[in-house]
Amino acid sequence: MSALQKVMGWVDDRFPLTATYKAHLSEYYAPKNFNFWYFFGSLALLVLVLQIVTGIFLTMNYKPDAELAFASVEYIMRDVEWGWLIRYMHSTGASMFFVVVYLHMFRGLMYGSYRKPRELIWIFGVLIYLALMAEAFLGYLLPWGQMSFWGAQVIVNLFAAVPFIGEDLSIWIRGDFVISDATLNRFFAFHVIALPLVLIALVAVHLVALHEVGSNNPDGVEIKKHKDPVTHIPLDGIPFHPYYTVKDIVGVIVFLMVFSAILFFAPEMGGYFLEAANFIPADPLKTPEHIAPLWYFTPFYAILRAVPPMFGSQFPGVVAMGLSIVFLFFLPWLDRSKVKSIRYRGPIYKVMLALFIVSFIGLGYLGLLPSTPIATIFAQIFSVIYFLFFLLMPWYTSIDKTKPEPERVTG
Ligand code: HEM
Repeated sequence: MSALQKVMGWVDDRFPLTATYKAHLSEYYAPKNFNFWYFFGSLALLVLVLQIVTGIFLTMNYKPDAELAFASVEYIMRDVEWGWLIRYMHSTGASMFFVVVYLHMFRGLMYGSYRKPRELIWIFGVLIYLALMAEAFLGYLLPWGQMSFWGAQVIVNLFAAVPFIGEDLSIWIRGDFVISDATLNRFFAFHVIALPLVLIALVAVHLVALHEVGSNNPDGVEIKKHKDPVTHIPLDGIPFHPYYTVKDIVGVIVFLMVFSAILFFAPEMGGYFLEAANFIPADPLKTPEHIAPLWYFTPFYAILRAVPPMFGSQFPGVVAMGLSIVFLFFLPWLDRSKVKSIRYRGPIYKVMLALFIVSFIGLGYLGLLPSTPIATIFAQIFSVIYFLFFLLMPWYTSIDKTKPEPERVTG
């Protein structure tokens, strides 16, 4: 027995190291037909780690103080060794997190990955998405630029629209009557520790649920239905390691090439990743001409603005915005189709999914623009389509003409 085997044996008698390695890597069988769309889960994990590591280094020089915050970020950019790289990695990473997660969610919609038995994987996913939005929103206040300040002002004011308790609620969130040093301090606490802990915990349960039932695949068929009678290994399964570890590395390399290209050549991405107005220190006495959130929030911002106020209150818009996410939780039960994957779905689902994506992107575009009467009409049309995708789903998925699903994966 080699020295290494002896050490492993010693550890295994005390901790299930080899057993865990086998259960989740070398003897964890994943469908053999994963395609490009299956890169984004591992990429989301990579970006999560990247954000945590760069965040730790930023915290070493950042000052969560309304008098010092803006200058401390400038100090990081100009004077701290490699500070510019760390900061741009973190700001680019935030946007790339959403790019990766949106593609990851779209994959779920295409292949019906939210359907039985993966409802909990999906629900944990939607919770991750909510936590991620909160994390990004809180982080955006920290540089204490004009957009940080006024963006937070607009969003916290939305809570003031809640009937009866709204005013008190918004003061409670801010810790003051306006966005102030107290707000900056608490947002910092939530951004650097509370929400990262929540995110890590949610990602952990997301993966535990995934490994309990096993991955779906582009055919939407369950590989566990056909197992080798002797070994009980799924006939269409291959060990995660080495096959998918190697495949995921290819995704990582391509992702890092795109990431570096943005980081080194266009870190502001024409104002989409870092807004020009945020290079001006926050001024509570001067509202910027046009306040728009970063691109990943704009679809929801457009829904908010599409709903007209009632009795001078923005509450109906706030409710619509909330519902646009709440519906995602119910997706596993709204879909009544006989098949999971888009490959075997009928034309109605394909059209509805296409319309849904077009309206989501359309809303995202409109959310970037100042509100005009014509833009509002388009935002209203897209919002209606967005909601109809969910509301009519039980109906159109049950009448749609699906193709027969194969017994085994087709490759
Ligand atoms: C930090 C964010 C996230 C991380 C790190 C993460 C990680 C992963 C990983 C590693 C996988 C397995 C590989 C893959 O299928 O691509 C996976 C699968 C899955 N994730 Fe996520 N995820 C995140 C966010 C989300 C969100 C926001 C949703 C949906 C709202 C979601 C829904 C799913 C579903 C349904 C599966 C199973 C897919 C299938 O088997 O076809 N995830 N996730």
